[in-house]
Amino acid sequence: MEQDIELLQEATAEAEQAQDSRALYEVKMKFLGRTGKVTALLRRMKEIAAEERPAFGKRVNDLREKLEERFSSLEEKLKKRELEKKLAGEEIDVTMPGRRGRTGALHPVTRVKNQLIDLFSGMGFEVFEGPEIESDYYNFTALNTPADHPARDMQDTFYLSGEFLLRTQTSAGQIRVMEKKKPPIKILSPGRVFRSDDDATHSPMFHQMEGLVVDRGITLCDLQGMLDEFAKKMFSETSKTRLRPSYFPFTEPSVEVDVSCAACGGKGCSLCKGTGWIEVLGAGMVNRRVLENCGVDPDEFSGFAFGMGIERIAMLKYGINNIKLLTENDVRFLEQFKD
Ligand code: PHE
Repeated sequence: MEQDIELLQEATAEAEQAQDSRALYEVKMKFLGRTGKVTALLRRMKEIAAEERPAFGKRVNDLREKLEERFSSLEEKLKKRELEKKLAGEEIDVTMPGRRGRTGALHPVTRVKNQLIDLFSGMGFEVFEGPEIESDYYNFTALNTPADHPARDMQDTFYLSGEFLLRTQTSAGQIRVMEKKKPPIKILSPGRVFRSDDDATHSPMFHQMEGLVVDRGITLCDLQGMLDEFAKKMFSETSKTRLRPSYFPFTEPSVEVDVSCAACGGKGCSLCKGTGWIEVLGAGMVNRRVLENCGVDPDEFSGFAFGMGIERIAMLKYGINNIKLLTENDVRFLEQFKD
């Protein structure tokens, strides 16, 4: 029986040709499977003379064992190679640039509002928020602007009824605080305000930040000192402030506050219209009448108040030339204000 040697050679040669474990499995089945060539040899057992059967059986079994050994060592080699190939394909290139997820960002008005709160709370101010729908009394009358006062014309008001309106200024909060709290008072009142006004620098809804300090011996110098600090922190270390006489019914004296133009350093440019200064807020010493209206004795206490437009500060700080950009919610614009 030379067949076993031939089969061994044939199977070994074919097995060695197999390029992967699948091909090898097929070769294995061709010889050792249920209908395989070696299995077929065993089936021929009954054709063999009885005395030769044990020897025949042993040879076929030896052949089978040898083949099985060969297949399994080849299979091990192929599987190892395949695994290496798979791992090489899955290799991670840690030097490859990553894909960045899009993240949101705070709106510039929110950012500036937060910066202002940070800055002033560092000086000891507490935040108080008043209502957006106000009564005529808090928004005007208590602020020394009674009905028919010409200063009501300074702010084009949205009236909701004879008594109620959309607040035109956060100054209404001054009254609410002084009614509740006795001096010393040091509060900051941020919020939305509404005026019937609409152009490149005015919007019918905008935000203000009000400040109020009431205590014994408060003077205009305290206001100016605090404003200098504010300008340095908000704009630049070299920023200066200047006070110009102005008029508000609820402050006396009243001032308008300019900050030296950060764009040109005060030399004069298109942003500051050649003056070197930019108006940023209104302020003044709290009018005696306002203190009286809230039950605070003006002979014992004095105070200063200031109010600024948050949009205006944001526009100056970030060089935004149209207030409408702040309400359009264009992501391409908003995305520029990330840390
Ligand atoms: N409320 C004033 C305005 O809106 C600003 C201001 C606040 C002025 C406090 C003086 C004191 O124009």
